[in-house]
Amino acid sequence: MTPVTFPSTFLWGASTSAYQIEGAVREGGRTPSIWDTFSHTPGKTVDGDHGDIAVDHYRRYPEDVALMAELGLDAYRFSISWSRVQPTGRGPAVQVGLDFYRRLADELLSKGIKPAVTLYHWDLPQELEDAGGWPERDTAYRFAEYAQLVGEALGDRVEHWMTLNEPWCTAFLGYASGVHAPGRTDPEASLKAAHHLNLAHGLGTSALRSVMPARNSIAVSLNSSTVRTVSQDPADLAAARKIDDLANGVFHGPMLHGTYPESLLKATEEITDWSCVAEGDLVLINQPLDALGLNYYTPALVSAADAAAGGSRADGHGASAYSPWPGADDVMFHQPPGEQTQMGWSIDATGLHDLLMRYTREAPGLPLYITENGAAYDDKPDPDGRVHDPERIAYLHGHLSAVRRAISDGADVRGYYQWSLMDNFEWSYGYEKRFGMVYVDYATLERTPKSSARWYSEVARTGTLPP
Ligand code: NOJ
Repeated sequence: MTPVTFPSTFLWGASTSAYQIEGAVREGGRTPSIWDTFSHTPGKTVDGDHGDIAVDHYRRYPEDVALMAELGLDAYRFSISWSRVQPTGRGPAVQVGLDFYRRLADELLSKGIKPAVTLYHWDLPQELEDAGGWPERDTAYRFAEYAQLVGEALGDRVEHWMTLNEPWCTAFLGYASGVHAPGRTDPEASLKAAHHLNLAHGLGTSALRSVMPARNSIAVSLNSSTVRTVSQDPADLAAARKIDDLANGVFHGPMLHGTYPESLLKATEEITDWSCVAEGDLVLINQPLDALGLNYYTPALVSAADAAAGGSRADGHGASAYSPWPGADDVMFHQPPGEQTQMGWSIDATGLHDLLMRYTREAPGLPLYITENGAAYDDKPDPDGRVHDPERIAYLHGHLSAVRRAISDGADVRGYYQWSLMDNFEWSYGYEKRFGMVYVDYATLERTPKSSARWYSEVARTGTLPP
């Protein structure tokens, strides 16, 4: 097999998010976010794990940036903790909070690493949830104000911006199945949350544009799903269309095309009349973007509920008696055959190729970035303290080959951020699932690059995948 080379301008990066790594939850006037509240509520996370200390990145960021430089990364995607910079979710920004992110960005730039900022990676200030959270329209306006404050503070040094990370998880895991903060289980609220997240994205994009240099790039990171069916039976195809609407169209419809899919509105009409969509909202949401971020881990395999193939309601997004798919009680999820990661997610790199080709058609001319891709494995140091993770290397190899194939097939993919730089707080799974290419000993917080980090570093340095 011949080595596979990427375009010389391709960005090689890694991703994290604030609540998953920072710790220092009471530092500098930071107030609780919904994830502080949720993770401290008994029974919500494995072993009651929380992000109070996480991997202490707030204090150890110089060490972490030095590690990224040693690995030769081109870019680093991190998120801003909203309640660190605007503790009540409204009003003026707290300077200490902004200064932390300025120092981080400057440290990265001094090592030649491009900072890429996500404004919202799931940690809504608790005060805003107490006022109604994402099902409340005002939250979208609060987000726009916050986006403007952060844009003013960092726009001169950060070129790559994402408004929201995986709004699907915020809306449907947060407000429908309740496995994520704030843990509500109200289907109507989840659809309203989805609309207000869309509105927040649109208003936030305009707010960023109004305060930042025009050269900066504004995007959103969607966990759009590659939806497959167990058969070509019309009932199974209809099930796939429904999940495609609820996973993908509900966000990319308004964001990229200025409209919600008719079939989505119809499938959910008994849950909501969508009166939350005010006149003019779709225009506000449908802002021109500079790029689209896609987070991909595994495809979904579905059938109609009455298919002989069986299946279950479990879709790999955590156990709950409540479905994260409003209006889709007639759909079943299936475990695809083949290998799985520690999350129980099937490994299928063709799903990534398919996703990139789909958005090449869906959003012609829009540069694409993989803003997350990676795998959890039960990594452990060997007696010499080294951490070998050949499964992760195989996963990355397969998925990067799929990216390269998509580029050859015409997809304009400009970069790839591995999830994650280092092991961290995996939401309701706590610290049990390790996604990092750098191992973290949670007792000492010592960082040790796994063999996948060395492998990825070589790929980034040469721009070439080994055979
Ligand atoms: C998506 C999320 O953005 C990230 O926070 C999470 O840790 C990974 N996927 C893995 O589940």
